[in-house]
Amino acid sequence: MKIKVTQKLLPYFTPVLVIKEGESIERHSLFQKLPLTDKHHLKAFVKHASIRSDANHVVFLPSGVAALVLGVVKKSKFTHRKSMLLMRRIVAVGRKERQSGLTLDINDFVAVDRKMHLEALSEILATQCVMANFDFVQYKTPPRDGWFFVDQISVFANGSFSNKLGAALERGKIIGEEINQARILSNTPGGDMTPQKLGEAAVLAGRRTGFRVKILKEQDLRKLKMGGILGVSKGSSEKPRFIIMEYLKGMRSERPVVIVGKGVTFDTGGLNLKPTDSIYEMHMDMSGGAATIHIMSSLARLKVKKNIIGLVPAVENMPSGSSYRPGDVLKTMSGKTIEVLNTDAEGRIILADALTYANRYKPKLVVDIATLTGAAIVALGYRASAFFSNSEEVGKRLCESGEIVGDLIWPLPLWEEYEDDVKGTFGDVANTGKTRYGGAINGAVFLWQFIKDIGSPSWVHLDIAPRMTSIDGEYLTKGALGASVGLLVHFIRFRN
Ligand code: BES
Ligand code: MN
Ligand code: ZN
Repeated sequence: MKIKVTQKLLPYFTPVLVIKEGESIERHSLFQKLPLTDKHHLKAFVKHASIRSDANHVVFLPSGVAALVLGVVKKSKFTHRKSMLLMRRIVAVGRKERQSGLTLDINDFVAVDRKMHLEALSEILATQCVMANFDFVQYKTPPRDGWFFVDQISVFANGSFSNKLGAALERGKIIGEEINQARILSNTPGGDMTPQKLGEAAVLAGRRTGFRVKILKEQDLRKLKMGGILGVSKGSSEKPRFIIMEYLKGMRSERPVVIVGKGVTFDTGGLNLKPTDSIYEMHMDMSGGAATIHIMSSLARLKVKKNIIGLVPAVENMPSGSSYRPGDVLKTMSGKTIEVLNTDAEGRIILADALTYANRYKPKLVVDIATLTGAAIVALGYRASAFFSNSEEVGKRLCESGEIVGDLIWPLPLWEEYEDDVKGTFGDVANTGKTRYGGAINGAVFLWQFIKDIGSPSWVHLDIAPRMTSIDGEYLTKGALGASVGLLVHFIRFRN
């Protein structure tokens, strides 16, 4: 999809008129640009059809083009969150009505609750539009006339400003594209997205966008004594990988940010096999890994001058004669042992080794991203990822980034008192808590044990299980969301 700035209404483009409750269509900038006969027609239309705040109208104009007239809530209730929803809704309506070119007015997206530079807003607009224009069609036979997507969006802006807005739209588009690439990796069925394939995807992304990639194989993991990753991968005929990505464009003296993503390419639960309903969608259990890869590619394409490392432990969690068992004690790279109480709590085991490896880079900040627990969904529902941090300051700033880009997160406690719950009986740390409650916290407190003793960088654990897949009403197609890509790209660029 092309996204450009325009200073006039282009012929054959569909003007999108967003009408806030209580406002007249005549005051809309795009209305004012229309030929007189179109204006009369639209005015007459609006008189007959009252524009409700949730109404989407396609109006065919005498000049031959259609206009989209969308109602939204009144100006005083039009929040930034509603604005981002509107951006996606416009593209969804455009696709449904098969309008291949849309003209928007950036001023329609200015919200009451957040003062934002039009440049920043344009970036967000482009990202949201690109995300809404995505569909995972790789495995479907195309209809005879092909899949329909919006091809071009032109954003109306006047005068001297247009160069800057154009560049901002371009940056936003890059972020949207990389988020969609992460969604493709996550949506790809488990049989086609093995640890090896995930590694290959990272190599391709690195080549395409400009960061270094190194893939460690089983032998290397043995040398590094990564008993956690090796243990979880034992049951599968798919061999594990450890993906290392390096983008070092900051000052040499600057300590890097290390991002660690869970790359379980399919999570059956292992010998603690998941029941039918829970195993569905577990090919997306590498969503943290996919996000990590495409955070790297976003930052590389945006030419961000920072030092960023991405690490993805990639395994398949399978039950078989060679699987790791409940009761096994695994020795991790840190030297700490993990008592396996449940083979379905595999994510934290592989992340333990990756967090230890992260220390090699003497990071100032470590962020891990994982579809770690169903309990995070129990706690928050599907509308925000859970996060935990040893730094209140970093947590606050990250939360703020989430609000700005619409990639929402919410805090849960990381308190020492909870550490009792992950003490092992026959190993140092147990991979599950002692009760069925507080599962998301237990996961975080487990990971904390592998961060604590290593030069104590700031650390954030993101449990993105709640945002693994889309829900109704957010104008995003069914399947993976690419959660945390937008969040961290924003945080790393502006808040760190
Ligand atoms: N990958 C799952 C968590 C998950 C569940 C992600 C639903 C997305 C949607 C994780 O490996 C897991 O199985 N966690 C267990 C932990 C438990 C055994 C302590 C869970 O949440 O039940
Ligand atoms: Mn699991
Ligand atoms: Zn899992």
